[in-house]
Amino acid sequence: MQWPSHGGQPERLRKMFGLAAARPVLDFSANLNPLGPPDDVPELLAKAFDQVRRYPDPHYEEPRQAIARAEGVPVGQVLLTNGGAEAIFLVAHWLQGKRALLVHPTFGEYERACRQHGLNVTSLFLANPPCFEWPLEQIVEHLADADVLFVAHPNNPTGTMLRPSALHLILEAARQHDCYVVIDEAFVDFLPQHASCTPWLREHPHLILLRSLTKMFTIPGLRLGYVLADEAVIRELAERQMPWSVNALAANLLPHLLANHEFIARTRRWLAVETDYLKSSLSALGFETSPFNANFYLVRDGRAGRWSKEKAVTEAERLLAFLLGRGIVARHTHTFKGLEGGWLRLAVRSREENAQLISSLSDWMEQS
Ligand SMILES: Cc1ncc(COP(=O)(O)O)c(C=O)c1O
Repeated sequence: MQWPSHGGQPERLRKMFGLAAARPVLDFSANLNPLGPPDDVPELLAKAFDQVRRYPDPHYEEPRQAIARAEGVPVGQVLLTNGGAEAIFLVAHWLQGKRALLVHPTFGEYERACRQHGLNVTSLFLANPPCFEWPLEQIVEHLADADVLFVAHPNNPTGTMLRPSALHLILEAARQHDCYVVIDEAFVDFLPQHASCTPWLREHPHLILLRSLTKMFTIPGLRLGYVLADEAVIRELAERQMPWSVNALAANLLPHLLANHEFIARTRRWLAVETDYLKSSLSALGFETSPFNANFYLVRDGRAGRWSKEKAVTEAERLLAFLLGRGIVARHTHTFKGLEGGWLRLAVRSREENAQLISSLSDWMEQS
């Protein structure tokens, strides 16, 4: 089967399973904020419409200043990008032909970017599912033979984080071995402010932070992200960036989004409440989840650990099809190394949608 490489493609899944396109779908496969975009976004975009007649400022001074103020870093440490995805490919381009270290299962675009730019990739794996522990000793050991480590933090698809002490250990080893550490914080805005590694930039010139506004503000179609790193690194990345890579409407919107503290705070409150609800409901039904902090998680039947790998994959596919029949779209995990289809990834949605999911999962458990 040709599985879609990303979430958010319900029509493709429906066709794969030969299901009629009769009813609307609840999309749990893309990990976007269900509260967004913020209410003022349509009006802000309409007001800025005239800007499409001109080229954007190639240096994006205003949005970069806004990011620098919000993050408390000098503007020379900021690069505006066309989503977090462009940032990943810029880093791989800059380090082309070198050695990368990845810890799977993780976001698939790291590997794609590395392969595209001829990096030699070494793969490690999170240990002991459903805990998905970081193999800290192995990571530190392999940093000696790597030029860059990519870490999604929180990690996609597990939704898990490293302890600050583990991050510290990795950064110190990376410094010793002259290895860059890319911490992709695409989902960090969903967590309390102290979860971000921004304050560590001052002490760690090898640290490269990637950020995305598409997840928190539900604007994946607009594309917006940025890099925070040492000024020398930012210059290298900027040199490889396509001119006018970020469109004027997105660039103009950025300062308004960053200033919308009320929306961010509301999102964090919603996530904390729904996370508790989902963790307790899923465990009561007999499902197992990754110990997630982010707005998505891995889930499987609690008995799957005792099944053969083949049975676990078959059951996950049957569950995916069952949910699809109920109009609920989950993310398959066939394209995540280390999972190979044995889990499903689900986004945290509104209470009404989460309750519908729980009700369908309860029916599934009853009939299986
Ligand atoms: C960990 C991670 N980083 C980056 C991205 C890319 O996000 P963007 O839409 O900002 O390009 C994603 C998208 O799913 C992601 O999961």
